[in-house]
Amino acid sequence: MRYPEFETAFEAQLQTHTNLYPHAVAYHRARFEQTIQYLLTSILEQTETLIQQPETNWTHTEEVVSDILYCGEITVEQLFALEIPNQLTPDRDFEAVKTKLYETKYYPISEHLNYITFPPALERKAFIGKHLDRFKEESCFCDLGFGPGVLTAFLLQQNATWQVDGVDISQHCLHHAQRLLTKKEVLDRSELSVGDVRKLPYPDNAFDVVIAVEVLEHIPDPEVGLSEAMRVLKPGGYAITALPVQLPLLMHLYDFDSPDEVLALYKKVGLKVIDFETKEFQRQADPFVDTFALSTKP
Ligand SMILES: C[S@@+](CC[C@H](N)C(=O)[O-])C[C@H]1O[C@@H](n2cnc3c(N)ncnc32)[C@H](O)[C@@H]1O
Repeated sequence: MRYPEFETAFEAQLQTHTNLYPHAVAYHRARFEQTIQYLLTSILEQTETLIQQPETNWTHTEEVVSDILYCGEITVEQLFALEIPNQLTPDRDFEAVKTKLYETKYYPISEHLNYITFPPALERKAFIGKHLDRFKEESCFCDLGFGPGVLTAFLLQQNATWQVDGVDISQHCLHHAQRLLTKKEVLDRSELSVGDVRKLPYPDNAFDVVIAVEVLEHIPDPEVGLSEAMRVLKPGGYAITALPVQLPLLMHLYDFDSPDEVLALYKKVGLKVIDFETKEFQRQADPFVDTFALSTKP
């Protein structure tokens, strides 16, 4: 039903009930008007932001949206019609999250959409960007839980001598990420596969840099994943990690309570932290803290 038809039908419904239920009708009419005002204000605020956007933001949005449409092999209309998985339950079962969320067409697309304007996602990229100069020529990176492949592509685009391999538990993410690397013409310097961060298909001391950004909280036992990351990292190599604090989403199977708990985990597995940032963000109405770290394996 389109809006004008809806409004006519709603008013007709109210009219038929006015005599018998005058207060209920007055209540529903006022509530409707108030909600419309609220939504309108929100839409106008968003539109105003859009009107004031600098050209760089338009360029960025254009690039990310066209990447998403290419990777997901969809149109903008199909993007908005995608079914949002809503079967996750708070039972914190890894296999359930995998089948009900990660293995859906929606998942890599939703993670990729975050890179349009979601501040924590943009901050992940900015944190990696801040440390690029430390990584030498011909560095070999391992991107653990690469998701849509945005960070993988970003790294590969920075230096034509770099190689970025990685695993993600989701076949859909693998497909999406590989299409992104193809679009960016960097696929030949990358070997991505489906795999579990808790049991990596690589020998010891294989990589100069490991990236584990917003992935360890997705397993019930982050220490197991981080120890595996340490195993495949060369001595003297770098780890870039990001972990949220007090963000109990249904797909998060471990909740970190404080930045100190995150730091304690890094210390426990033997990482030497060089740079540690904590930033407060908003997710819907609730604040949470995201942490970003650059460490070395002594
Ligand atoms: C929030 S996304 C982060 C994606 C990417 N690192 C980024 O920052 O854009 C988390 C990713 O971890 C993956 N994941 C969850 N559990 C995993 C596991 N046990 N092993 C490997 N990947 C996993 C999910 O499939 C998802 O793609």
